[in-house]
Amino acid sequence: MKTHLVTGGAGFIGSHLCDKLLADGHAVIAIDDFSLGTYENLIEAIKHEHFKFLEGDVANSSFWHQLAKDCPTNSIDVIWHMAANSDISAGVKDSTVDLHRTFLTTFHTLEAAKALGVKHFALASTSAVYGDLQSVLSEDSAPLNPISNYGAMKLASEAAATAKTSTDLDKLWIFRFPNVVGPRSTHGVIHDFVRKLNSTPRRLEVLGDGTQCKPYLHVIELLDAMMHTVRNSNEKINRFLIGPLGDKGTTVRYIADLVIRLYGTNAEIVYGNGNRGWVGDVPTFTYSTDKIYSLGWKPKLTSNQTIDKAVGEIVAELKSPVVALR
Ligand SMILES: NC(=O)c1ccc[n+]([C@@H]2O[C@H](COP(=O)([O-])OP(=O)(O)OC[C@H]3O[C@@H](n4cnc5c(N)ncnc54)[C@H](O)[C@@H]3O)[C@@H](O)[C@H]2O)c1
Repeated sequence: MKTHLVTGGAGFIGSHLCDKLLADGHAVIAIDDFSLGTYENLIEAIKHEHFKFLEGDVANSSFWHQLAKDCPTNSIDVIWHMAANSDISAGVKDSTVDLHRTFLTTFHTLEAAKALGVKHFALASTSAVYGDLQSVLSEDSAPLNPISNYGAMKLASEAAATAKTSTDLDKLWIFRFPNVVGPRSTHGVIHDFVRKLNSTPRRLEVLGDGTQCKPYLHVIELLDAMMHTVRNSNEKINRFLIGPLGDKGTTVRYIADLVIRLYGTNAEIVYGNGNRGWVGDVPTFTYSTDKIYSLGWKPKLTSNQTIDKAVGEIVAELKSPVVALR
């Protein structure tokens, strides 16, 4: 049994990660400030005897000083840094949101790793570090010119983490996620569509013209890929893209049509203009997953199959039971 610390542990991916680590026989300490995560996401984990939850802001050094007093040095094996700002519109309105929640959470968690003697660190990064780069994206693609502050703060996080491998960390994993979907989501296109239909069941407003086409990966496949990579990669810095099967993404139009069908409404879909849903949106990108394939991991689902599964799950989870369709 190892001890894993998960920042952002009450969030969408972080809470699934806690459940997976516990199911694999490990002890887990999860931290979250509940800015976006919820207590409900931890409902399974808190039943477990080897699970401990701490509420706190991981961008605040005094939180970590307190934790270091209660936590013996070298007692944590791996830190999984999942905390970040996933509310894109909040970050667009106010750049300090991503500075604080996306970069400073990383900076202070890295400092905490040093103070706690943790040598293994896994960082959740993103396709947003590539900006508008028009090629099949790989781990070595360049130049990295993010077009959103969120992407910039993730790239800065990657840089801060890689620098620590020359001083404090023995092993670093940087995972650049595509769009991750599944139950317990706190944001994202399917989540937004279902929420919108809960308030206006006859009309679905879509950001952009719906032609945006991106790869979607199911959260369960993401966890499987991360566990496999941590077990099997041996470099000091291990950077991996994780994507669905095949190189075709899924359009927003496909998602909107499916959400409406599974929601059980014939809502009118109202598309916006242009192929960018918001400032910093990258309308199309394709991931090369050759590197993770060569490590022996392969996803089971294509992007469309992932969406088919996740739309069913999220509609079942979020559809309001009192919505009036007639
Ligand atoms: N979901 C995706 O499609 C996706 C894609 C690319 C990258 N990522 C990255 O994966 C990670 C997890 O994302 P998610 O989708 O689960 O988002 P999420 O918002 O559900 O989870 C992030 C969690 O971090 C917590 N948090 C934020 N600031 C904090 C702070 N200062 N102190 C403590 N907790 C804090 C939030 O309350 C939330 O529970 C993030 O780093 C995100 O940037 C996600």
